[in-house]
Amino acid sequence: MTILECKNLTKEYLSGENVVKAVDDVTISFEQGEFCAITGPSGSGKSTFLHVLSSLENPTSGEVRYGEKPLLSYNDNQLSILRRRRFGFVFQAYNLVQELTGYENILLPIMLDNKKPDEEYLNKVIDILGIEDRLHHLPSALSGGQQQRIAIARALANRPSILFADEPTGNLDGKSGREVLSLLKYVSKQLGVTLILVTHDLHVAEQAERILTIEDGKIVKDTKNGVI
Ligand SMILES: Nc1ncnc2c1ncn2[C@@H]1O[C@H](COP(=O)(O)OP(=O)(O)OP(=O)(O)O)[C@@H](O)[C@H]1O
Ligand SMILES: [Mg+2]
Repeated sequence: MTILECKNLTKEYLSGENVVKAVDDVTISFEQGEFCAITGPSGSGKSTFLHVLSSLENPTSGEVRYGEKPLLSYNDNQLSILRRRRFGFVFQAYNLVQELTGYENILLPIMLDNKKPDEEYLNKVIDILGIEDRLHHLPSALSGGQQQRIAIARALANRPSILFADEPTGNLDGKSGREVLSLLKYVSKQLGVTLILVTHDLHVAEQAERILTIEDGKIVKDTKNGVI
């Protein structure tokens, strides 16, 4: 079942007098529960593509549909609810609130939504990510890999259907990067979450079931559908 799709998606930026097509007429769909990596050289448009797909930025033209509903039909308030409840985000920077403990950071999106935490679910996420003994520490007392695992738990706290990750292992050394990636992959599968992950690292991309290669804003290869 298709969970997310875009049609003729284009994002342009003005750079001085020039127009940069960071995303150039992309039409593609993502299946519920799949793990798809988006790779390509620096500046090829990976992050921009992730941002327009996930409604963090508006496209210049074209459309994105989530569960068949066009994002254009949501107003700003509905979009922020969609992002808070249905989408999870993990970035290269962990973006934890330094004054809050690991557990408080994980609870933050639930609190922002005025909801009660589902402790059984959260305990499962915490258990899979192996962070139970780090929950009461402040981020400053955690390693990069531990902070990113807290950030992943926070991204999953509201039971999103899609997790968007942009270079989630970019700040980590090889070993902790591999650990975080395999946990991210495992936890998404266990929870049935669709994982769309941007990376310039081919070793990271190779962990995915499907790899999209982007060059100059265009998808030049899709391992699911062959070269397009
Ligand atoms: N806010 C912006 N304003 C102007 N140009 C931008 C903006 N964001 C991105 N660009 C340009 O769009 C193109 C794609 O950038 P993007 O950040 O999406 O690439 P990327 O593939 O994620 O690169 P990297 O691997 O270095 O993170 C680049 O030419 C970049 O300079
Ligand atoms: Mg980027």
